[in-house]
Amino acid sequence: MNILIVGMGYVGVTTGLILAELGWKVTGFDTNEAKLNRLAVGTLPFYEPGLDVLLEEHSRAGSISFTSDFETALREHPIIFLCVGTPSRPDGSADLQFIRQAAEQIGSLMTEYKLVVIKSTVPVGTNEQVVRWIGEAQREPVSFDVISNPEFLREGSALHDALHPDRVVIGSTNKQATAIITALYKDMTCPLIVTKPQTAEMIKYAANAFLATKISFINELSRLCDRLGVSVTDVAHGMGTDPRIGPHFLRAGIGFGGSCFPKDIQALLYTAKEHGSEMTLLNSVVAVNQTQISYAVHNWERTFGSFRNKTVALLGLSFKPETDDQRESPALSVLKHLMEEKAIVRVHDPVSKLPADMASDRVRQFETLEDTVAACDAVILCTEWKQYTTADWGLLKESMRQHYFLDGRNALDGKRMSSLGFSYRCLGNP
Ligand code: UDX
Repeated sequence: MNILIVGMGYVGVTTGLILAELGWKVTGFDTNEAKLNRLAVGTLPFYEPGLDVLLEEHSRAGSISFTSDFETALREHPIIFLCVGTPSRPDGSADLQFIRQAAEQIGSLMTEYKLVVIKSTVPVGTNEQVVRWIGEAQREPVSFDVISNPEFLREGSALHDALHPDRVVIGSTNKQATAIITALYKDMTCPLIVTKPQTAEMIKYAANAFLATKISFINELSRLCDRLGVSVTDVAHGMGTDPRIGPHFLRAGIGFGGSCFPKDIQALLYTAKEHGSEMTLLNSVVAVNQTQISYAVHNWERTFGSFRNKTVALLGLSFKPETDDQRESPALSVLKHLMEEKAIVRVHDPVSKLPADMASDRVRQFETLEDTVAACDAVILCTEWKQYTTADWGLLKESMRQHYFLDGRNALDGKRMSSLGFSYRCLGNP
C-alpha cells in the first residue's frame, strides 16, 4: 500500500518515517519545495534525535521519497495522510486552511477510491467537514473515506513514541477504511481504539488538556509549598506512586510550552465557547501557566536581588530538551523578563539559536557552557538538557563571579548544588 503524506512538518516527517519503518512505501509532499529538496538530500527541517538516521536509511532503500507534484502523487497513492499544520488564529480557534486546501485538492483531482487519514490535531467535527470539502470539490462522484488517527508523539522522543505508542486511536465509521488502517498498523503491539471520528478528535484534545492540567496543578501547588516550607518534589513523588495519579507530568517548573499544549488548549476552549460550554478548570490551567514565569522570576529575585546590570547565564532556549523548537518556549519568556529588568544575559542552548530580534550587546549566545557561565552572577536553568544536569558544576563554578543557581526546571539535586557552594533555588522546594 503506497502512502502519501501531505505536510512535511514534525508530524508528517515522523509519521512518514515510521510507516516506512513498518514496511510501507511512503511519499512525502509539501508545498514548500525548499523543504522537500533538503529532505531529499537527508536534511531534516527540525532537530529530532534518531530521525536523521532513519531518513538516510529509508531514502537509500527507496521506501521514502519526496515530491512536489501533487497530481501525480495522488494518482499513485490510495492512502493519504493529512499532516499539515493547524495553527492558532488570534481568537484561539484552529486555522484549518491547510486542511481545507489539501481536502479540496484531493477532491478535485481524484479519479478512484482514496482513503484520507487525518493525523493533524483538528477540532471535533473536522472529519465531517473534510468529507464535505472533498465531496464539494469533486468533478464527478468517486468514493472515498475519511478517518481520524490522531498522533500522540512528543518532540524530543518522537521516534520512540511513534514506534511504541501507548495506543493507536482510529476514528472511523466505515469497516473497509478501518480494515485498511488496521493493516497499516498490524505490527504495533499497543491497543487499537476504534471509535467515532468525533471521539477520536476529542481524545487528542482531552489528553493534551489533561497533561497540561497536571503540570499547572503541580506548579500552583509549588507556590504554596514555597510558603509552607514543603518540598513539591517530595509531594509529587508521594502522590505519583498512587497508580490512579501516576508519576508523570508532575514536575514543577516554569511551565509548559511547545507547539501543542498552548495551541490545543486554546482550540478546545474555543470549541467549548462556540457550544456555550464553560471550561473553568482549563481556563485556570492557562492562567497558572501564564503567571508561573513571573512567579519564578520574582521568587528568584527574593534570593538573588534585582537582576539589573547583573550578568546572568540563561541555559536552554527550546521549550523542552532534545528539540530546537522554541514555539511558546517558557525560556524566551524568562529571557524577556531579564531583558526588561536590564540584566546582561549570556545564553546557551545545545541546538537552538537565539532569535535575531532578541540579540543585542546585552544579550548574546555563547557556544560552550564554560564561556556562557564565565564571570556570571547567576545561572538560570530554563530547559533541562542533559548537558546541564550532568555538567561538572563544581568546576564551572570557579569561573563565576557570584554563585547563584536558579533552577527553573527543578532538574538538579539541590543538596548537592548547595554542597558545591551554590546558593541554589528552584520552585516549590525550600
Ligand atoms: C505534547 C504531548 O505530550 C504529546 O502527547 C502530544 O502529541 C504533543 O504535545 P510535546 O509538546 O512534544 O508533547 O512535549 P511534552 O513532553 O508533553 O512537554 C510539554 C511541556 O510541558 C514542555 O514545555 C515541558 O517542559 C513541560 N512539562 C512537562 C513540565 O513543565 N512538567 C512536566 O512534568 C512535564
